[in-house]
Amino acid sequence: MTPTLPPFPAARPRRLRRTSALRAMVRETTLSPDDFIWPVFVMAGQDDETPVPSMPGVTRKTVDRVVAAAREAHGLGIPAICLFPYTALEDRTEDCAEAWNPDNLSNRAIRAIKDAVPEMAVMTDIALDPYNINGHDGYVEGEEIVNDRTVEALVRMALAQAEAGADILGPSDMMDGRIGAIRSALESEGHQQVTILSYAAKFASGFYGPFRDAVGASGALKGDKATYQIDPANRSEALRMVARDIAEGADMVMVKPGMPYLDICREVKDRFGLPTFAYQVSGEYAMQKAAAQNGWFDGDKTMIEGLTCFKRAGCDGILTYFAPDAARLLNG
Ligand code: PBG
Repeated sequence: MTPTLPPFPAARPRRLRRTSALRAMVRETTLSPDDFIWPVFVMAGQDDETPVPSMPGVTRKTVDRVVAAAREAHGLGIPAICLFPYTALEDRTEDCAEAWNPDNLSNRAIRAIKDAVPEMAVMTDIALDPYNINGHDGYVEGEEIVNDRTVEALVRMALAQAEAGADILGPSDMMDGRIGAIRSALESEGHQQVTILSYAAKFASGFYGPFRDAVGASGALKGDKATYQIDPANRSEALRMVARDIAEGADMVMVKPGMPYLDICREVKDRFGLPTFAYQVSGEYAMQKAAAQNGWFDGDKTMIEGLTCFKRAGCDGILTYFAPDAARLLNG
């Protein structure tokens, strides 16, 4: 149905925009802290954090500080936190064994958060890049990022995270067949209740640059990720990937990056109806922060506007580095 209006002056649409009460009455989309998943970077050490230069306001935190951050986020009404490890260089190897070490940074952080703030949902990332000597999400053989052997490693990684108490697993690697393999391993190993939020429509994007600095993968990465992540030009392919991951057992799906891909968000939500999330990635955050710091626009206004637009585009929630700042603002 196309909404119609009588001709002017019977219709003066500005009548409904005149006061903030009227605007609030007719607002179609709302934003609240429970729409956010907060991505945080974990590093080794004690009671310490270091800034990520390309992401102003974001730091890598030691496990105890991540626990404090989770407690704070819970107090702000943010339901979930997502962990990304900054792995020590000596723990990055060709076989990526640190990825399924039960005591790796990410798994220790999961346990520590679930001990201290059990109500907080903990999400993880499943991909080999923080553990891989060459920065790729999968094993590298010659020139190739190999699929099937990588999926076996991802399954081990998923089980270690589930074992540590993760509520939501986030496969972000874009290997074929990984959702099905992870789902069946979770079923057979007694982790039937663990959810999968698949990075289903993940594009080969330049907007991930600052993240790769944050996890220390930029220097290591040889080449790009175009042989496994989706071409940014492809809409039909993205929809096929979402359908595939749902068929293999994903409980929720994600579109990533966010802002340049709102058309995909809308279409995924309309077609599949599953809980749909967008990842407002590091480069999107960096752009907005940089412009705000330069005084080129009002950072608070654009932060809330951008996040609201994800909801308008059909997203149920947003992974965003702005989560605590936005929640504080929304909470007044
Ligand atoms: C790793 C992963 C990436 C991001 C999340 N998980 C980087 C990549 O695929 O290169 C990016 C997040 C961001 O840019 O904020 N598989």
